[in-house]
Amino acid sequence: MTDPAATRSRDSWATRAGFILAAVGSAVGLGNMWRFSYVAAEGGGAAFVLLYLVFVAVIGVPIMTSEFVVGRMSQESPVVAVQRLGGPKWAPLGWMFVFCGFGILSYYSVIAGWTMRYALDATRGIIGTDAGAYFQSVATGVPAIVTHVIFMALTIFIVVAGVKRGLERAALVLMPLLFLLLVALAIWAATLGGGAAGYGYYLRPQLGELLDPNVIRLAAGQAFFSLSLGMGAMMTYASYLTSKENLGREAATVALCDFGVAFVAGLVIFPVIFHFGLSSTIGLGGAISDNTVGTLFIALPAGLDSLGTLGRVVLSTFFIMLFFAALTSSISLLEVVVSAVIDGWGWSRKQAAIWFGVMIALAGLPAAFNLNFLDAADKFVGNFLLIVGGFFTAILVGYTIPAKADAELAQGMTDPALRKAWAFFVRYLSPVLLLIVIWFMLPTAWNALVTLLTLGRG
Ligand code: TRP
Repeated sequence: MTDPAATRSRDSWATRAGFILAAVGSAVGLGNMWRFSYVAAEGGGAAFVLLYLVFVAVIGVPIMTSEFVVGRMSQESPVVAVQRLGGPKWAPLGWMFVFCGFGILSYYSVIAGWTMRYALDATRGIIGTDAGAYFQSVATGVPAIVTHVIFMALTIFIVVAGVKRGLERAALVLMPLLFLLLVALAIWAATLGGGAAGYGYYLRPQLGELLDPNVIRLAAGQAFFSLSLGMGAMMTYASYLTSKENLGREAATVALCDFGVAFVAGLVIFPVIFHFGLSSTIGLGGAISDNTVGTLFIALPAGLDSLGTLGRVVLSTFFIMLFFAALTSSISLLEVVVSAVIDGWGWSRKQAAIWFGVMIALAGLPAAFNLNFLDAADKFVGNFLLIVGGFFTAILVGYTIPAKADAELAQGMTDPALRKAWAFFVRYLSPVLLLIVIWFMLPTAWNALVTLLTLGRG
């Protein structure tokens, strides 16, 4: 390993706000609305939501802080960073990060493509009341491939052109707008009759379910996905950080914003599902059907369409904002791959983004053809591997470089008691909890892997 950092001028954030905004932009995305609503439905509602909140606080924030620490300390892409800090035997962790970025983006872009399609079709009244049928007609096959390819092209363009500043500025306006729109929608949902059942499902946990391995595994996976953890995305962003702010506080800020968006989205979705009697359409409570993946894309349009023109305009606006939220997330996924190729192989940013972007677009084709493939990819890469990545990140920071990590965190987080608490979470609580989660995940991860391999070949 030469020392590229010494000779090469690396990108860096102009301001602290730029960094936070990018990190929030990475976290807030399809995960908060598309994934949160379908996984919460799968996980039985309220018990899932409570466990999710606990995992965000006790594992999410400490692990995100760890990723920030590693990134800022190394000023390198994750692949190089983990080896420089931990030694060559950590190389596989870095490769796994890149593999995850590659894998997640390949299907993430398919779903982001749906948002584009919905934004266009909503105002034209094409979606109609039978949103389930509409979803079936655009979620796979040629329509899905077209929007998937367009979305990948946009992502590549932004990562190449370095128009991140422009996107950041757009996000600065659009994210708060998205949140306000969600709050308005939540108020509308509250006026619907029959919403009580929806709120009950979403907010009143059954104590027994809190210990259900399935609910635990879904909640932990969702925490990692939604917070963009476990694959070096937050590490990469923090590696462009040169100033010494309080990384623990930044992590808490990002987690709070991310949770807020997901929570309010749930306040919209669940009353709507129950009011419009959509539980069976989206496979709620029953076997996992193709449609579970489409919860958000079916429930919200079906509900809003009943309001006529106004509802369609609101629906279209919602999907435009969701599209932007997805874009600020997808660039962080591609950035992990691209920064690894730039720092590791010395490629130019343009070469790396185009070549790997095209490969990712191709890798997304099976997901665009088959929702079962998409679902399996999400379960294996977007769930299981992230938890594994988080576990090893905790081991690296908590056991291999604890003193260095503490010294790095101390630059900005001056309270030693807080740092002690953080070290405890990273060394003991997170690894133990994550091991339990990994154990609970093994059967589904294995099944998902088998599905990927059989469908991928067919
Ligand atoms: N967190 C994003 C979302 O909720 C998706 C995402 C972006 C992501 N970067 C990531 C997920 C890195 C896991 C890892 O939509």
